[in-house]
Amino acid sequence: MATLLEKPAEFKGARSMGHMALHYKTKEDGPLAARLLSMLGYVETQDLLLPNGSHFYRFVVDPRHSPRGDGIVYVSVIPDAQRDLTKAIHEALGVGTDHEHATVVAMREKLEEDPEYSFHYGTLMESLEDLENIFLALEDANKNDPQLKGRLKLVYNRGLPGNSDVDARLDASPIYGGVTRYAYGKNGVQAFVETDILASGVLGETMMLEFDYVFPGYDRHVLSIVEWE
Ligand SMILES: [Fe+2]
Repeated sequence: MATLLEKPAEFKGARSMGHMALHYKTKEDGPLAARLLSMLGYVETQDLLLPNGSHFYRFVVDPRHSPRGDGIVYVSVIPDAQRDLTKAIHEALGVGTDHEHATVVAMREKLEEDPEYSFHYGTLMESLEDLENIFLALEDANKNDPQLKGRLKLVYNRGLPGNSDVDARLDASPIYGGVTRYAYGKNGVQAFVETDILASGVLGETMMLEFDYVFPGYDRHVLSIVEWE
């Protein structure tokens, strides 16, 4: 019987997560979206100016992916038809008004409780310090950067408590020290940045990006086993 470490016999090679295609909202937001992704540690490998005046960017999650076909994040402006569809949905459901459809209100409440409730994607970091430094810079930018001020929503989850080494490291963390939210698992952390510079999901208003760190040496961690209390 095959184990989880063996690939199914019908396939000859390995596979990996290839790319994500993200969209920024307006042509003018392109360079700002690219700057935000650079602040998140992604590496820009191409900036192509399209005939309509918008930028098409290729980023990689780590420089090692530059020549490869995986680890890629493409970033471009929302296509016209998608923008028009989103506008029609917003008008029909009163999105952004004081009489939003009940389903929109309910969805907002769920997203407020849990940043993972709807579409998002996660980037795994091998250094907790890198993650902390990135999010310290985002916290500062959200307060002081003329272009990014107020456009980032930052949320943090600690791993479930119970490992004294992990708990002590997180108590001493400039990001996690005061955090009382918890992930669905142990021995790792999550950090979320939601921004209205990018658009995704059913409401097309924001994009949620997740960054994770897993403490080394534990088989049971936030990304290996989901734990539901
Ligand atoms: Fe997630």
